[in-house]
Amino acid sequence: MKQYKLVSESEMIKHSEYIKKVRAMNTASGEQKYAYIQTFGCQQNVADSEKIAGMCVSMGYKLCNEPADADLIVVNTCAIREHAEKRALSIIGQYKHLKAKKPSLMIAVCGCMVAQEHRRNDIKFRYPYVDFIFGASSLFRLPQLIVERIEKKKRLYCPEENEYLVAEGIPAERESTFKAWVSVMYGCNNFCTYCIVPYVRGRERSRRPEDIISEVRELVKAGYKDITLLGQNVNSYGKDAKGDGGEVYDFADLLADIDKIEGDYYIRFMTSHPKDASKKLIDVIASSRHIAHQFHLPMQSGSDEILKRMNRRYDTKKYMETVEYMREKIPDITISSDIIVGFPGETEEDFHGTLDMLSRVRFDMVYSFIYSPRKGTPAAEMEEQIDDKIKSERFDRLLALQNEISYEKNQPLKDKVIKVLCDGRSKNNDGVFSGRSEGNKIVLFEGNDFDTGKFLDLKITRADTFALYGEKLK
Ligand code: 5AD
Ligand code: SF4
Repeated sequence: MKQYKLVSESEMIKHSEYIKKVRAMNTASGEQKYAYIQTFGCQQNVADSEKIAGMCVSMGYKLCNEPADADLIVVNTCAIREHAEKRALSIIGQYKHLKAKKPSLMIAVCGCMVAQEHRRNDIKFRYPYVDFIFGASSLFRLPQLIVERIEKKKRLYCPEENEYLVAEGIPAERESTFKAWVSVMYGCNNFCTYCIVPYVRGRERSRRPEDIISEVRELVKAGYKDITLLGQNVNSYGKDAKGDGGEVYDFADLLADIDKIEGDYYIRFMTSHPKDASKKLIDVIASSRHIAHQFHLPMQSGSDEILKRMNRRYDTKKYMETVEYMREKIPDITISSDIIVGFPGETEEDFHGTLDMLSRVRFDMVYSFIYSPRKGTPAAEMEEQIDDKIKSERFDRLLALQNEISYEKNQPLKDKVIKVLCDGRSKNNDGVFSGRSEGNKIVLFEGNDFDTGKFLDLKITRADTFALYGEKLK
């Protein structure tokens, strides 16, 4: 028997009863109630917010786009860098006047930021108009918290912490009708020394394969074309739920089974950890029908010394071998990475190591971050914190090099015809439509609203650093 850490059936029955109770309260009020959900941070948070939205709809709320129209505001926060926390706190600050205008407005703050005690105290003492808080692993408690807030008339600060479980059966209210996020696991066991995630999202727990596969099957049936499987480290999928004989149904097995679902769709996944991106996984992608030839493999640093101090448990040699194996098996693969600059103790030589790896690997895309000390993580306590000026100067140098590489990597796509999933009108350019290639590259083209959500064959006419430009085939 494999052990999955599920919220018990009786808890989920209570959950449905709380939903009914809130719906009854909303109906009894005689007016339509509105919920506004504000999301910060990663795709995992976006996926969580879609579940929060799903619960809100079940409770009788309509979703709205303006906080001023809302009866319930949920701020889903991020803690990965200080900047994300500051933005969330500033937004929460702006809601004070909404509450003053409409005292019945309920404001909830959830997600990674408030899983930290010092931030919970900030909310408690500096934002007294926030009604309640809940952690990312207690999402399913939202209906209960609403009921308790109304009945007990007390602010609630003690979400069930450390209940690191998986709640199945919460319907997601998805933002898109053709792109979907599916969490395959939650939490992280890796404790990279810079990272707050293991402290705020708890230990790894995997969803059952049958739950994931049936969710993907339903999505494909409903016409979804681009499905991203999410986890902090998807390569550890299944390892927390070993069978009695120690056997693991791992991420590669899961991908292979999902790939059997018939239809016209791509499967993507993130994020992978280089220490356990296995050959088996790469082989599954190479022989699959639906898994996009795209791999996000965060390297974080190109210095072995810094990687050690980051507790990443691989070195540049191992990283390079993985990349080479991927390219050998899947020659058209697009590889992207995350890089942190200015980790404590990063010397000019270490930084050169990173630039050197960028030149050797030649990533298609890099997401670079300036190291941000996170309270409670080992790296925040390390001596030799790097001066802000040096950090931002290194950040600029890294970006300049990567921009050159991204530009060069995009050139061979010129004059090629590629398959693109149209996302709709581009936000920046009037009348221009935007889509994504299999390699997850942005492609801009002249289209029309009927194209949205469809696969198109586009001929690439120009290739730039951050986007490709294409035209529809006649
Ligand atoms: N400072 C800067 N970047 C960070 N990341 C994680 N923690 C920090 C931090 N403290 C980056 C890593 C990770 C990405 C999601 O965010 O590169 O892969
Ligand atoms: Fe953070 Fe490392 Fe876990 Fe990724 S693998 S979430 S960087 S601790």
